[in-house]
Amino acid sequence: MSDASPEPPVQHSRKVRVALLFGGRSGEHGVSAATAAGVMKAIDQDKYDVVPVGITREGQWVLTSGDASRWELTAGGLAEVTPESGKELVGLPDLGEVDVVFPLLHGPFGEDGTVQGMLEVAGMRYVGAGVLASAVGMDKQYMKLVFAGHGLPVGPYVVVQPREWEQHRAEVVDRVLELKFPVFVKPARAGSSLGVTRVDDVGALADAIEEARFHDPKVLVEQGIEGREIECAVLGGRAGGPPRASVAGEVVVDHEAAAFYDFEEKYLSGSHSRTEAPADLPDEVGERVRELAIRAFEAVGAEGLSRVDVFVTPEGEVVLNEINTMPGFTPISMYPKLWAASGLPYSELIDELIQLALERPTGLR
Ligand SMILES: Nc1ncnc2c1ncn2[C@@H]1O[C@H](COP(=O)(O)OP(=O)(O)O)[C@@H](O)[C@H]1O
Ligand SMILES: [Mg+2]
Repeated sequence: MSDASPEPPVQHSRKVRVALLFGGRSGEHGVSAATAAGVMKAIDQDKYDVVPVGITREGQWVLTSGDASRWELTAGGLAEVTPESGKELVGLPDLGEVDVVFPLLHGPFGEDGTVQGMLEVAGMRYVGAGVLASAVGMDKQYMKLVFAGHGLPVGPYVVVQPREWEQHRAEVVDRVLELKFPVFVKPARAGSSLGVTRVDDVGALADAIEEARFHDPKVLVEQGIEGREIECAVLGGRAGGPPRASVAGEVVVDHEAAAFYDFEEKYLSGSHSRTEAPADLPDEVGERVRELAIRAFEAVGAEGLSRVDVFVTPEGEVVLNEINTMPGFTPISMYPKLWAASGLPYSELIDELIQLALERPTGLR
């Protein structure tokens, strides 16, 4: 007894429990599953316990497998959360003890403030933007209004409300004709290029609007901007500090082969585009992109993370395209790539985002 080694100290602390929300009700369901796989693999297992929560396309929450390979993008395509993927969850309390929620959800019912609102009501901490910033970042009409209201550069566009299209189609066409072609027709609230069409002449406009309306009854028609597609990753500041911008990256699309950076290019074939991080830009243009990215992040009141996408015209002018409050987040997605290129590898980025969420109080802040 006397020579027995002392008992190890009682472990009062446990690992931080992180609920990963993925799948979901939007068209980006499968992309979200692929993101979850990436995070499950890379998250620091010594620090965090993962509670994997899949959301079916119908909105059912399921406590699923935490086996990353189940959710990876394979030759068979993107994975799908179904009611059979695990144990059905009825309400948030069914999750058990959770310290922080990481909504790896893209698009409506995930990136748009709805899930964030639910978590606010429940008083749960979560990674990323709050209700308002998420909603503004999701809705391209309000995003542009907020950017313009902050004096940030946005291109010319026309909003097509459902009633206008259904009852005053000729007026809509007249308004669009004031823009220069090509134009880009897009759903106001979608993502991953779903429902986006490049339109070269007015004859193809109606079909493109109908296509966008399949994703959202509210549609935007934007004047095409000739330029390079440059993206910048922003991280919220630690301990009240200012937001941080990564190096700028570039999406290089072979325009001979693909009309633009569409869903197929982003996730499936990707054979006519590539991403470069950092982008080969003159220093002052790179600086301007980073500065605008931070201003865009602050304009919408984002928190945690956002990717800001801009066009850089042949004259070196920088025009905002959009902010994504839950950008693609697989290990090969632009957001993690930009941070890796800025000295913050994927696992550490995940850690940083969770720490930012833990540091932030719930409620009004
Ligand atoms: N105004 C525009 N000018 C030129 N290209 C555009 C314009 N709007 C969109 N695109 C092209 O379409 C892609 C998807 O549009 P985007 O607005 O980023 O939609 P999403 O939110 O679905 O990513 C862009 O990455 C770009 O290739
Ligand atoms: Mg985009």
